[in-house]
Amino acid sequence: MTTLIDYRLDGEVALIGLARPPVNALGQPLREALAEAFELAIADSQVHAVVIYGQGRAFSAGADISEFGSPAAFAAPDLASLLSRLAASPKPLIAAIAGTALGGGLETALACGYRISSAQATLGLPETRIGLLPGAGGTQRLPRLIGAVAALEIILSGEPVSAAEALALGLIDRLVPDGEDLLAAATELARNLVAESAPAQRAWRYSDPARGLPTAFFDDYVAARARRWKGQLAPVLALEAVKAACAGSLEEGLASEQLLFKQVESSAQSAALRHQFFAQREALKVCGVDKNTARRPVNRVAVIGAGTMGGGIAMNFANAGIPVTLLELKGEALDRGLAHIRKQYDSSVKRGKLTPLQLEVRMSLITGTLEYADIAQVDLVIEAVFESLSIKQNVFRTLDEVCKTGAILATNTSTLDVDLIAAVTRRPHDVIGLHFFSPANVMKLLEVVRGRETSPQVLATTLDLARQIGKTAVVSGVCFGFIGNRMLEPYAREAHRLVLEGATPAQVDGVLTELGLAMGVLSMYDLAGIDVGYLVRESRREAIAHDASYFKLADELYAQGRHGQKTGRGFYRYEGRDRVEDYEVVACAEVLASELGITRRVISNEEIHDRCLFMLINEGVQLLDEGIAERSGDIDLVWINGYGFPAWRGGPMHYAEQLGLGRVLAGIERYREQLGEYGRMWFRPVPLLQRLVAAGQTRIQRL
Ligand code: 3HC
Ligand code: NAI
Repeated sequence: MTTLIDYRLDGEVALIGLARPPVNALGQPLREALAEAFELAIADSQVHAVVIYGQGRAFSAGADISEFGSPAAFAAPDLASLLSRLAASPKPLIAAIAGTALGGGLETALACGYRISSAQATLGLPETRIGLLPGAGGTQRLPRLIGAVAALEIILSGEPVSAAEALALGLIDRLVPDGEDLLAAATELARNLVAESAPAQRAWRYSDPARGLPTAFFDDYVAARARRWKGQLAPVLALEAVKAACAGSLEEGLASEQLLFKQVESSAQSAALRHQFFAQREALKVCGVDKNTARRPVNRVAVIGAGTMGGGIAMNFANAGIPVTLLELKGEALDRGLAHIRKQYDSSVKRGKLTPLQLEVRMSLITGTLEYADIAQVDLVIEAVFESLSIKQNVFRTLDEVCKTGAILATNTSTLDVDLIAAVTRRPHDVIGLHFFSPANVMKLLEVVRGRETSPQVLATTLDLARQIGKTAVVSGVCFGFIGNRMLEPYAREAHRLVLEGATPAQVDGVLTELGLAMGVLSMYDLAGIDVGYLVRESRREAIAHDASYFKLADELYAQGRHGQKTGRGFYRYEGRDRVEDYEVVACAEVLASELGITRRVISNEEIHDRCLFMLINEGVQLLDEGIAERSGDIDLVWINGYGFPAWRGGPMHYAEQLGLGRVLAGIERYREQLGEYGRMWFRPVPLLQRLVAAGQTRIQRL
């Protein structure tokens, strides 16, 4: 027997232990080993019942995700057939679940006649999160076990349920309390089943999973989620599979599930989401940092500046139970900041997301102060004052004076040079950039900016902390705007310039939202504030002076007091919550275009797509070449988690690979020709992109 299975006999019970660390992913070798062990147990006349369990931290995390997109995914024995074989076992099978039973792991448990679980276990079907659907009987057996409504919730949310919830739903038969031996309990259950001559398979509790539901149930279900699912294949097809479970026999349902599964498995969307899954894990593997790198304890945090970002940043720590001190210059600003935080929590209470008690506990973890002496003993300080190098440097001089040795000093700057900030301290190795995104308590992304002298300890500690506060951390080197905002520049530049050339803001944004972006870039500027963009430009007029065209319109909007949503007017007009096209902006673009000698014309959606996206991709490739981003997957994570790029397109780098690097390069070269002086100025394919195409590479990587 292979080392992937630990096969033992305990009297009349065969114990099959899945032993493929770290998470017992059911790749072909484990599937084959499990099939072999199962047949051995069935053939052995001494064996009257079989327990399947997982060694290590998981029962099983499901199919081996890395096999999808290759023939290995369905190589014999394929999971669906294997589980059908298990489900037809002549002897009782008991799944003993500890740790996680996810996807194909839970489907394995569903194929067993009986399920028993430790109290700490979690069970779920997260396949739709990676663009798949449960494809080894999950969409058929789960509705028959717990009913269509509960099954849909588990399948379409992708959220795992706790063992206690699973017991209440009837998903498991018994819960083994903490401290009791799961395997011993499962073996005892097996013996009892044998003693009682219990059937290997039981009748389904919900033989007609949709019984009692209104006829329009599935249609209404889809209609209620149409917006959320826009453009996405997996949830729609997963629902189809559950519908099939409600319409015919198990065999027919399993056949439908297989067809639907193969459709999603071969889709570009699933490839993109699987890419994201692995990118998230890769992003945590940072050069110079490993599990042996010492971490510093972070038990108390301080945030400097209680404005838009400071307040949100403080909430992250309070939400994770970490006390945080908020320091401001003036009492009024502090009061305003604290009141704003309370208001945010209040609205969570109103939406039922938080209890009034939780609100008070969180507020009690946030202390305001005007005195640096009060933060002398904290383990981490995050500065979030105005975006001005001199102001930030002054703050860091003070922090250097007052903070204890070993404290981590972080800046939330979005554009400034972290090394220049670190340089004013006597401890640049303790300085790091922690770039949160607005609203900081909501957005998942945290760009961790590694300065020239940032120590591995500081980096490792902040990466762990990011995970603790529920952020997706991506490490960036130091440059203007880091990964995200630096790429935003060329992307936004094209959007602005296209409006001068003849597109409307709504047309530009429409192309981007059609692609799946959460928001068009011009709407995003309206949301963030036209004034904010203006101030960033003010700080670097010299650097952008060689082209006076593209930012003219935004400068003009700023001058007219059209600062975006906050003033009710920007690239659009706002009527309540509605965004409305505004002819005044078009008129303004016409005047400016004529002043700049730009001939306005009809712009195609394709041109908008190509110019915005290709320039975004071009800059990303350059960031990789410069080493600002360690991997192209890191860039994708930044754009998915910080800029609303659709995860099911995999991020801009993965999207470029799907489009074809040659097409991107040719597009850039075409616009370089077509757009005259402007084209020659900006449409410059970066060397790495040229090298990749010349070498026939299809993946974006350093060369
Ligand atoms: N396939 C392949 N590799 C997997 C995997 C899987 N299903 N699940 C985890 N891994 C790998 C990770 O890539 C990582 O590898 P690395 O160390 O080389 O980076 C390692 O296992 C550990 O994973 P995590 O770092 O994520 O460990 P955590 O302890 O933080 O999380 C987990 C564990 C909750 C199990 C998490 O890994 C997870 O959510 N896994 C994916 C679960 C999933 O989506 N299952 C469905 C698979 S599709 C399926 O089953 C189809 C079926 O219906 C036919
Ligand atoms: P803000 O203007 O809302 O808040 C800044 C706060 O800092 C104000 O309350 C001000 O009183 C306080 N402050 C100024 N100088 C101070 C000092 N010396 N000591 C203590 N407090 C001081 O600004 P916002 O938007 O919160 O930005 C803060 C930082 O976060 C900037 O560096 C900005 O670039 C960055 N950032 C902003 C994002 C955004 O979307 N607003 C996104 C990501 C980063």
